[in-house]
Amino acid sequence: MEIVLQAKNVRKVYGIKGNVYTALDNISLEITKGDFVGIMGPSGAGKSTLLNVFSTIDKPTSGEIQISGQELETM
Ligand SMILES: Nc1ncnc2c1ncn2[C@@H]1O[C@H](COP(=O)(O)OP(=O)(O)OP(=O)(O)O)[C@@H](O)[C@H]1O
Ligand SMILES: [Mg+2]
Repeated sequence: MEIVLQAKNVRKVYGIKGNVYTALDNISLEITKGDFVGIMGPSGAGKSTLLNVFSTIDKPTSGEIQISGQELETM
């Protein structure tokens, strides 16, 4: 199956110095062509943060995200 989105060890940490919050803690997933994916979780779980880094609205603190094999960082 063709992988359209691959995320490896994605972390997103908001804030600086003593006031930091880890919104995404090592998220890895693969989405293959034709998948219909829902993201569920309570308020504050990090759903919007995840979609923001997948859509390049925001940058992950670390980790890799590829869309159709291309690293988002290189776009
Ligand atoms: N810009 C920001 N600066 C600091 N913390 C943030 C920021 N954006 C989100 N957060 C924090 O990151 C965590 C995840 O937030 P996020 O908005 O991704 O959750 P969510 O799952 O989309 O919640 P909801 O269901 O309420 O939309 C929350 O604790 C939130 O307070
Ligand atoms: Mg949200």
